[in-house]
Amino acid sequence: MDNIDCAKKEIRAVIAGSRVPEDPRHADNTLEWLLCLEPDAGDALQLAALAHDIDRAIEEIKVRRADFDDYDAFKAAHARNGVEILRSILIQCDVEGDIVDEACRLVEVHEVGGDPRSDLLKDADSISYFDVNLPLYYQREGWAETKRRSSWGYRRLSARAKKLVDKICYQDETLMQLLREVIHEGIH
Ligand SMILES: [Fe+2]
Repeated sequence: MDNIDCAKKEIRAVIAGSRVPEDPRHADNTLEWLLCLEPDAGDALQLAALAHDIDRAIEEIKVRRADFDDYDAFKAAHARNGVEILRSILIQCDVEGDIVDEACRLVEVHEVGGDPRSDLLKDADSISYFDVNLPLYYQREGWAETKRRSSWGYRRLSARAKKLVDKICYQDETLMQLLREVIHEGIH
């Protein structure tokens, strides 16, 4: 097994321990969306896509929403914490220094983007929220919080990613209604 495969396996093993039920599926689904948006995405981007939410998998050190007044401040702390966990996995698997640095940088900025590579990761992550997280998020958090979270996620999509999310269908009519409202309010 090469270094990158070692790192991917280790990242998946850590995320498999998350108490958030959608986390393992979301990690792989973000990687799938990344490769759909950019088939030539390199190792650093692929590792970042898999690991971007790794912070949520470790209960003892995970950043808690309740400790932050501001949702963006919470998300920034979540990203920084994830970087530390990812860096130790990549070093343990002997991944090349440049790839370690770039994967960690991408995880650190995955909530905000700002350059073509981190914008790709942000899009893949945000599309995946709608693709796999939203139904489970709704079961746990209810209408109002899911709508807030979804509107926040929709606003940060690129125009290209919005088109993909606009085509998503859920079996549950309530969720379809929620998505329609989010899209409508996101356009107007
Ligand atoms: Fe995510």
